[in-house]
Amino acid sequence: MRFFLAAIGALAIIVGLGCAAFFFGGFYSVAGTSDDPAAVTWALTRVRAASIERHANDKPPASFGDDAMVRKGAMTYASYGCANCHGAPGVKWLKYSEGLHPDPPDLKDVAGELSPAELFWVVKNGINMTGMPSFAQAGASDDEIWSIVAFVKKLPGTSEADYKSWSSGAQLKQ
Ligand code: HEC
Repeated sequence: MRFFLAAIGALAIIVGLGCAAFFFGGFYSVAGTSDDPAAVTWALTRVRAASIERHANDKPPASFGDDAMVRKGAMTYASYGCANCHGAPGVKWLKYSEGLHPDPPDLKDVAGELSPAELFWVVKNGINMTGMPSFAQAGASDDEIWSIVAFVKKLPGTSEADYKSWSSGAQLKQ
């Protein structure tokens, strides 16, 4: 029994030293071009979804989803540069979005999967260690973020002409 425990302890130390050498020795590649092993991607996706679900508790305002709010949301979406990474009806994603890893999803595909509270939480707080910024830190108010969420929810049915007219004159925030 004693020998057995000692062997486990020794093995744990060897594995620990091996990991330390691998990571601190620079052997692990942080390149944005290297693919994560499938198990890592699976685990990170699950952790992200569970974290968003647990944290997203804010209630949408009473006016949520009315036309004025959706239009204001399109304007706000354009001025915070969401379209650069996620695209928009009739708007091309900027070339650099192809170099982001994990890659930014097309929001009309996720609009139905995430609740308004979950969308609000993601846009407000961002997603750590990805290219998704926290827009609260970028200066957006809760009202602005709710309007963006109202617009994102309507994205699947928004035509190019609608988006163009709702976002016309938008100035990129600097
Ligand atoms: C610099 C690029 C960039 C910008 C600008 C950006 N995003 Fe993102 N966004 C990302 C990336 C990358 C991800 C994917 C993160 C991941 O896979 O965990 C993401 C994820 C998201 C998600 C979560 C999708 C999901 O399936 O969980 C939402 C919602 C979102 N972004 C909305 C927005 C909105 C709205 C804006 C503008 C206010 C915005 N993003 C601006 C890069 C960006």
